[in-house]
Amino acid sequence: MKNLKSDFYSQFPSKKYLFMGSLVFLFIITSCSVKLYEPSAETVSTNANLTKLKQGKELYINKCAECHSLKQPEKYSADKWVKLVKVMSKKAKINDDQASLILQYVTKGERS
Ligand code: HEC
Repeated sequence: MKNLKSDFYSQFPSKKYLFMGSLVFLFIITSCSVKLYEPSAETVSTNANLTKLKQGKELYINKCAECHSLKQPEKYSADKWVKLVKVMSKKAKINDDQASLILQYVTKGERS
């Protein structure tokens, strides 16, 4: 009698390729989205205001991803972020208060 099960699988790409395909797929999904830290007592500098950092995170996500993907806060030093946010806030057409909140978030409460 014919082996139905192996006939069935021979119609499809081998499991090895399915597995490799899903790895590629997962890689694409994860490389398109940055994982932004969540402000908490553990993740930010000691006397940072968590409420403001959370507002900063929201603004960062909503105002700074229009032209390019979001950059990891850890990618630049606080000094560098001060300059970047100054330049980018003009591009993003946000006011000084919003820029200050975003700066607080990306510098983990070190600058505002
Ligand atoms: C109107 C489009 C636009 C918006 C909105 C925008 N950016 Fe940019 N951003 C750019 C362009 C264009 C570049 C690359 C060229 C450059 O460095 O000027 C860039 C580059 C950057 C870089 C990389 C700079 C480097 O030297 O590696 C960072 C970080 C950045 N933006 C942060 C932000 C932040 C934070 C915001 C929100 C306040 C923001 N961007 C909003 C257009 C934008």
